[in-house]
Amino acid sequence: MNRRLEGKVALVTGGARGIGAAIVRRLHAEGAAVAITDVLAEPGRALAAELGERAAFFAHDTTDEAAWVATIAAVTGAFGGLQIVVNNAGVFKPGAIADTSVADVEWQFRVNQLGVFLGMKHAQLPLRAAGGGCIVNISSIAGQLGFPGAAAYVGTKWAVRGMTKTAALELAPVQIRVNSVHPGFIDTPMLDNNPPEANQAGIEATPLKRIGKPEEIAAAVAFLVGPDAGFVTGAELTVDGGWIL
Ligand SMILES: NC(=O)c1ccc[n+]([C@@H]2O[C@H](COP(=O)([O-])OP(=O)(O)OC[C@H]3O[C@@H](n4cnc5c(N)ncnc54)[C@H](O)[C@@H]3O)[C@@H](O)[C@H]2O)c1
Repeated sequence: MNRRLEGKVALVTGGARGIGAAIVRRLHAEGAAVAITDVLAEPGRALAAELGERAAFFAHDTTDEAAWVATIAAVTGAFGGLQIVVNNAGVFKPGAIADTSVADVEWQFRVNQLGVFLGMKHAQLPLRAAGGGCIVNISSIAGQLGFPGAAAYVGTKWAVRGMTKTAALELAPVQIRVNSVHPGFIDTPMLDNNPPEANQAGIEATPLKRIGKPEEIAAAVAFLVGPDAGFVTGAELTVDGGWIL
C-alpha cells in the first residue's frame, strides 16, 4: 500500500464498523495515525487493538458538542495534532413521511446533520493550527436524489452536501479542503434496517448489478484526503455503481 499519509493524523467518526471501519483501515494502511471514534465501544476498541501502533479508540457521541471538544483535545493530546477529519457517523430509519415520527426525524437530524456540523465546527481548529488539512463528509446518493420511504434521512444527506460546499468556501482561505462522498448501496450493518425486498431492489437499481463494498468507499476517501486531490474542494464524489446516472 502506498504510504501517502505518513505523518498525518486522522479522526474517523463512526469508525467502529461498516464504512467507517473500512476508512480507518485504509488511512492506517497508507501510514496515518487514526483516531477511531464511535458510540460503539467494543468493536471500536477491538479495531484499535488489531491495528496496534498508530490507532486508538475514543468513545464519542457526535451529537454532543462538549464531547467534540473533549475528543479533539484527547486526540491531539495522544497524536500531537490533527490534519484529516472524516465525518462518517450516520443512522438510517426507513419510513414514509406519513408514518415517520418527530422523534425519528430528530434522531436522524441529530446524528447525520448536527453531528457533521459540529465536526466541522470543532475539528477545524486543530486543522487551522496545522496550517491546513482535509475534511470529508459522508453523504449518500440520498443527498443527490429523492427516495420514497426515506424523507427524513434524505433531508439530512442533502444538508450534508450543502454544508460541505459552504464549508469548502469558508475554509479555503485557511487551506482546509472539504469534500463529500456519496455512497450508493453498500454492504454494511446499516442495511439490516431495510426490508429484504428493498435490498434486492437496491441491487437492481445499480447498473453494475451488485452491492458496493465498504472498501470501495474508503478508497474514494483516501483519494480525497491525499496529495493527488490537492486542488479538489467542495466536490461531491459519487461511488454508487452508476445508480444516479
Ligand atoms: N450502507 C450504505 O448503503 C450507505 C449508503 C450511503 C451512505 N451511507 C452512509 O455511510 C455512513 C456509514 O454508514 P454504514 O453503512 O457504515 O452504517 P453502520 O451502521 O454500519 O455504521 C455507522 C456507525 O456510526 C456509528 N454512530 C451512530 N450514531 C453515532 C453517534 N451519535 N456518534 C458516533 N457514532 C455514531 C455507529 O455506532 C456505527 O458504528 C453513514 O453516514 C451512512 O449514512 C451508507
